[in-house]
Parts: sequence; C-alpha cells; structure tokens
Amino acid sequence: MKTIIVYATSHGTTESVAEQIKSKLQGDVDLANIKKQKKIDLDAYDQIIIGGSIHMGVIQKKIKKFCEQNTHILLQKKLGLFLSCMDDEKAQEQFDKAFSDELKAHATTYKLTGGEFKLEKMNFLERSIVKKVSGETESVNNLKPDRISELVKELETDN
Ligand SMILES: Cc1cc2nc3c(=O)[nH]c(=O)nc-3n(C[C@H](O)[C@H](O)[C@H](O)COP(=O)(O)O)c2cc1C
Repeated sequence: MKTIIVYATSHGTTESVAEQIKSKLQGDVDLANIKKQKKIDLDAYDQIIIGGSIHMGVIQKKIKKFCEQNTHILLQKKLGLFLSCMDDEKAQEQFDKAFSDELKAHATTYKLTGGEFKLEKMNFLERSIVKKVSGETESVNNLKPDRISELVKELETDN
C-alpha cells in the first residue's frame, strides 16, 4: 500500500498531524506540503490522505483547489480526510464546508483533530484576531491524539 498525505499548514500544526499519521501508518508513506510541492503524481498512490486547517472559518484555498481539480482521481483511491481547527463547536460545520459531498461520501474516514494556537508564530494581525475571537493571549494545545490514532486504525482496518 502506497500512501501520500497532502496537507496545507500555516503555523505547522497540520504538518505535525500529517507527520504523526505517517509515523503510525504501515507501508510506504510520502508527505506533500501543497504550498511547496506543486506537482503531485496521484497515480502513483493507492491511498490519499488530505488535511488542512481553518482560518476565519475556511480551509486553505490550495486544498480546496487541489480537491476540486483532482476529484475524479480521488474518487478512485482509498481516501482519508482530516482538519485542524480550534473551535470544537464549529468543527463539524467547518469540515462540512471544507470538503465536497462527493469526497466526504467516498472517504473511508475523516477526523477533526483539534488544533493549536501558536502565538509565537503568528503575526500581529493573526494574534489580534485570535485574541478577539477566542480571548486567548497564550499558546494553546488542543490537539486530539486519539483521533489521529483512530484515523490510522480505520484506514488500516478497511483493507
Ligand atoms: C488568524 C487565525 C484564524 C483562525 N480562525 C479559526 C476559525 O475560524 N475556526 C477555528 O476552528 N479555528 C480557527 N483558527 C485556529 C486554527 O485552525 C488552528 O490554529 C490550527 O491548528 C492551525 O493549523 P496550521 O498551523 O496547520 O495552519 C484560527 C487561527 C488563526 C491563527
């Protein structure tokens, strides 16, 4: 089984989730940061896992575009989806808007993995937004490791 994890990240949280998935998955696993790697040969993979994060209610445009442009091939592959975000109450709604109904219906599994506020990595505007919306003035880790393990387990038991 050859897998690629395609992700977008702003401050590194989604990247660290992608790395954790890679370390837990069996077989040959590649990582592709969509902002750095422009060409990805999806034909070379049996399984594709896609992850992004939410900023101001939406997932990264590059992930949206990647999913739209590759829907046809993604529907032929084993698929997993994940999303990093901090608002637990809105997580499901944000996920539903981030990925198309076709991809959600086709995916073997999806997970809302929680997220992190890394204040030291944010610019002034981002820090102001986070403070206004969440009241947080310090870095917060709300990652949910159990969900990362579940994603891997559910993909592996569906062989
Ligand atoms: C400027 C900004 C806006 C954000 N907006 C939202 C939001 O609308 N909803 C939410 O659930 N999380 C929001 N978050 C939290 C991010 O989704 C969270 O920090 C995530 O872990 C970021 O992952 P990344 O570093 O891989 O981009 C926001 C974070 C920042 C910095």
